[in-house]
Amino acid sequence: MSGDTETQPQHHWQGVLSSALDAVGHTPLIKLQRIAQEEGLKCNLLGKCEFFSAGGSVKDRIAKRMVEHAEKQGILIPGQSIVIEPTSIGLALACAIKGYQCIITLPAKMSLEKEVMLRALGAEIVRTPTEAAWDSPESHIGIARKLQKSIPGGVILDQYSNPHNPLAHYYGTYEEIVHSLKTSDLPRKDISLLVAGAGTGGTITGLGRAIRDYEASLPQTNGNGSSHVRTTILAVDPEGSILGGGEPGNYQVEGIGYDFFPEVLDPNPPVVDKWLKTNDEEAFTATKRLIRKEGLFVGGSSGSALSGTIRYLHSSEGQQIAQDPNANVVVILPDGVRNYMSKPWFLETSKSPTGEDVGDKEDIKDTIKGILGRDLNDVGSVVQSKGERGEKLEKGDQLMV
Ligand SMILES: Cc1ncc(COP(=O)(O)O)c(C=O)c1O
Repeated sequence: MSGDTETQPQHHWQGVLSSALDAVGHTPLIKLQRIAQEEGLKCNLLGKCEFFSAGGSVKDRIAKRMVEHAEKQGILIPGQSIVIEPTSIGLALACAIKGYQCIITLPAKMSLEKEVMLRALGAEIVRTPTEAAWDSPESHIGIARKLQKSIPGGVILDQYSNPHNPLAHYYGTYEEIVHSLKTSDLPRKDISLLVAGAGTGGTITGLGRAIRDYEASLPQTNGNGSSHVRTTILAVDPEGSILGGGEPGNYQVEGIGYDFFPEVLDPNPPVVDKWLKTNDEEAFTATKRLIRKEGLFVGGSSGSALSGTIRYLHSSEGQQIAQDPNANVVVILPDGVRNYMSKPWFLETSKSPTGEDVGDKEDIKDTIKGILGRDLNDVGSVVQSKGERGEKLEKGDQLMV
């Protein structure tokens, strides 16, 4: 893909790390066994869990790589440069560790949690209107450009055009997936289906190119005379994004979809075989399912990727992979729910994907209510009745009055 020479990546943490940047990536590939079973899928459904990365997101990888390469090229100068970029916790993390001032432009729809995290990392935040078209001067991209022109030392590393964005996945994410499969007890070590959401497109493009380059490097037939598996690569974006087709519009899921085609995205075959559109409802339902059934604290776009994957595997096209117990299906789960805890879609946790109660099981709730003689959250009535009875209030009780 490029003349870059890379040192062999480390696949696990050894010894003592020099900083949190060394804990970027190296994320686990985890079986989504309960969901696969519920769906009647025989294949190995595997989630690449990016929330294990130091900054909690797949984007940590590109931030680290873009900063390190910009330093090598003299584009970033310690003590002088101010890094300006749309929407990136990973970048703010790298800047915090390396001592760069950092300004992040953040569309209004992006969660309060992201803003708080960014502030905690010392970044300055500029909110921008969500509705602003990408090329409008008021968009998160437009504002970043405006600031860069006027702030001495301002540098935009530009994840939308920076080749180190897809390269971070070509070398890092891909190698990790290969390593996890090779060292697993799964019967086959190759990838039958890869599914990833697309924002800038760096993830799907880097992974897709690495897979295709690997396939091209193989002899046409293996020892048995049969051909090697060709990986099917699916990109996921939301309804309201134009990347996978359709008109621009509003959607709540964060991190995927755009109203323009970023330069780093290679949206066509052979890299991407097919695009899948998902909507907010199915994304958030699948997110809660990943948490509830698999114990994985993922964010909304992980649900988009999973719901797209399941839909494909149930389609006639996906049947062969779905029913093959040796097939490996890798779904990229880009970030964690930590970034979205105050969002209404997460707070409404009572209904499961199948309509069954998951947060508020009425039967057990009633049992507890019967035992305690009060509502589960009604601390006030306990404090009041203790006080009325002349019992001494404990420290915790007084706090609640
Ligand atoms: C929260 C989040 N960040 C980043 C990405 C990946 O985006 P990119 O296409 O920029 O690599 C995704 C993709 O699903 C995402 O959901």
